Amino acid sequence: MAKPTTHYVCQSCGSCFPKWSGKCEGCQSWNSLVEETTVDSFQKKTTQKAQKIEFSSLEDVSEPLPRLLTGIDEFDRVCGGGLVPGSVILVGGDPGIGKSTLLLQVAAVTSGKTPCAYISGEEAADQVRLRARRLQVSSSPVQLATTTHIGDILKSLHQGPQVAVIDSIQTMYVEALDAAPGSVSQVRASAHELIRFAKKYGVTIIIVGHVTKEGVIAGPRVLEHMVDTVLYFEGERGHHFRILRSVKNRFGPTDEIGVFEMTDKGLQEVANPSALFLSQSREDVTGSCVFAGIEGTRPLLVEIQSLIAPSSLATPRRAVVGWDSGRLSMILAVLEARCGLVCGNRDVFLNVAGGLRISEPAADLAVAASLLSSLADTAIPKDAVFFGEIGLSGEIRPISQQEARLKEAFKLGFKTAFIPKPSKPFSMAEMTLIPLAHIGELAHYLEAKPKMRRVYGG
Ligand code: TYD
Ligand code: MG
Repeated sequence: MAKPTTHYVCQSCGSCFPKWSGKCEGCQSWNSLVEETTVDSFQKKTTQKAQKIEFSSLEDVSEPLPRLLTGIDEFDRVCGGGLVPGSVILVGGDPGIGKSTLLLQVAAVTSGKTPCAYISGEEAADQVRLRARRLQVSSSPVQLATTTHIGDILKSLHQGPQVAVIDSIQTMYVEALDAAPGSVSQVRASAHELIRFAKKYGVTIIIVGHVTKEGVIAGPRVLEHMVDTVLYFEGERGHHFRILRSVKNRFGPTDEIGVFEMTDKGLQEVANPSALFLSQSREDVTGSCVFAGIEGTRPLLVEIQSLIAPSSLATPRRAVVGWDSGRLSMILAVLEARCGLVCGNRDVFLNVAGGLRISEPAADLAVAASLLSSLADTAIPKDAVFFGEIGLSGEIRPISQQEARLKEAFKLGFKTAFIPKPSKPFSMAEMTLIPLAHIGELAHYLEAKPKMRRVYGG
């Protein structure tokens, strides 16, 4: 009989310690260690006689199985072009963001092509059926089950489904462990069993995992290194659209996004996200400009807005929505040091319209333009787009995929682009390109109103 062992597991990072302490040495979080007892079933295996393993060459590749296209284009693209047989995909996100809705829709369309199971550990079968009715997919041949026992699931998956959705990993448990469902060791052990099964039988398993912003509950973060693909489903509460973002993919590019809109009939794909993120009736207002960005392989235009107002506080506010606040401080410091624009006693608000989160440094120039426009009280022409990275000395650095950005801008009716000065001559017949080498040149444009009028005829 294997001996039970007790150890203390950090519920935020998964580190394991023989003794309890108030602070996790792994991730420095407080009060996150929880006692877990394991009947170590692996002990038996280590006493097995070691066997010789067979080595083979890198060339011995059997023809890979074709990917399975679900039919939801945005989902397929984020997966790197469809589902890879035998792969395990983790879909993480805040509770209530729409993970179950998305995956029920994926399961429904996929089940038309290949047997597909949806296993819910959170909702009763009737709740799932009600949702299916609302999504108008009740008639699709999805094999629905509700259970939380991994052993039962694996036994049932032997019967044929090629794709299985497990909703959610926090509700699942394996019997060998004494820990509660949702604890790090249960989440890890359950995922381990599912992954082993997927690899052995070539079944694609999609695992749902909740993450909370505080990371208090054992989140799927501890699973990220185990699975093949990690997708995060994000969105701002109060906004209707949701973004599915790939953060790890062994079978495709990362940073790819899929855009969906939450409607009363479930998630609808958004084929042209730029149109969604740009406000419909844009006018020449100060502090607002358009950034031509790239998310994954896809160009995306977003509006960046800023407001600079006199502050009544001793420490003026710096509020940022959708961008990095550290980066905003840097741009403000560069503007102050290199262009002499001081906003020390004013509040600065920066907002990426529509609730999108941008992480590209290429947005620096658009942010700077928006801040300069606010400060100088000069409207940026509404047919202009911006992109470029700003260095600490105020230089504007070239960035990747300029042409794709410009093409998207042209497609949406933009006529002018402020771009980093290219190293070799570069032109585009359809658009007026304004190359900038230093942030001071942009300040010059926006401050010198008459000059702007002449350039744009405005
Ligand atoms: P859900 O998929 O249950 O979220 P998760 O599994 O990530 O916890 O989504 C729940 C939210 O989605 C809920 O607030 C209601 C909303 N919703 C719609 O707006 N339309 C719909 O058709 C459905 C099914 C859900
Ligand atoms: Mg759910």
